[in-house]
Amino acid sequence: MNNNNPIGLFDSGIGGTSIWKEIHDLLPNEHTIYLADSKNAPYGQKSKEEIIALSIKNTEYLLNQNAKIIVVACNTATTNAIKELRAKYDVPFIGIEPAIKPAAIHSEKHIIGILATQGTLNSELFHQTVEKFHDTKIIEQIGHGLVPLIEKGEMNSKEMDVLLRQYLEPMIDANIDYLVLGCSHYPYLIPQIKKILPKEIKIIDSGEAVARQTKTILAENNAINSGKDKGKVIFYTNSDPKVLNDILDHKYTVIRKDF
Ligand code: DGL
Repeated sequence: MNNNNPIGLFDSGIGGTSIWKEIHDLLPNEHTIYLADSKNAPYGQKSKEEIIALSIKNTEYLLNQNAKIIVVACNTATTNAIKELRAKYDVPFIGIEPAIKPAAIHSEKHIIGILATQGTLNSELFHQTVEKFHDTKIIEQIGHGLVPLIEKGEMNSKEMDVLLRQYLEPMIDANIDYLVLGCSHYPYLIPQIKKILPKEIKIIDSGEAVARQTKTILAENNAINSGKDKGKVIFYTNSDPKVLNDILDHKYTVIRKDF
C-alpha cells in the first residue's frame, strides 16, 4: 500500500460527503477521491444484485485511481454489497452501518427509532445487528422520497417537512429517546429533524465512528500519509454538479464525469 495514494469513497450521491467531512477533519493530510454516483441514485429501492453491480463499478473506478483503501460511504451499499466487495478485492474496505449499537446501549427507555432506506432495513446484515439488541424496541421507518429530495437540494422544502413529520411523529408517539440516521444522506436533514423532534430525543449517525475506523485500519496497514501538506481533494459526479458544489460551499474541485 502506497501511503501517498488517496482514500477512495463512494456513495449513491452527495450524502456520503457527510462521511467524507469527518474523514477529512480527522485525517487532513490524506488525499481523498469521492465518487457521487448521483446518476444512479437512489440505491435504496434497487435489488441486492443491482447494488452489488454498482458498488463494483464504483470500486473499480477508485482502484484505477490508485485508492489505497475504500470507504463505502453508503449504508445501503455496505449492508448489501460489502461482503462481495471484500471477497473480490484485496484492498481494505470500511463500511458504514446504522449506529444501532450506541443507540441501544445508551437508550434509557429501551425504545429507539431508525430512519434508513428500504435496502438497508431489508438487508441480512441489518437484521443480524438488530437481533443482538432484542431488549430494545426498534421502530424502523423507510425514508421513502428523502434521498431524491436531498439530491435535488430540497432539504428545506415543504415537501421534505411533510415527509419528515409523517415518518417521525409515530416515533415520537412511541416514546423513542434515540433516533438513528441510517443513511449517509440524512445528516443533511438534522436542522429540519430538530424542528420536529422534542429536544430530549438524541440524534445519532455513524460518521465519526467511520472516520476513526478508517484511521485505525490505515495505521494497522502502515498506510497513514505522513506528509505535512493538506491532502488533495477531488470529487467526481456523474450528474449535475450544482448541489454537490453547494453542500461543499464551492470550496473543492468537482468534476463531472461518466463512470
Ligand atoms: N446514502 C445512502 C445510504 O447511506 C443511499 C441512499 C440511496 O441512494 O437510497 O444508504
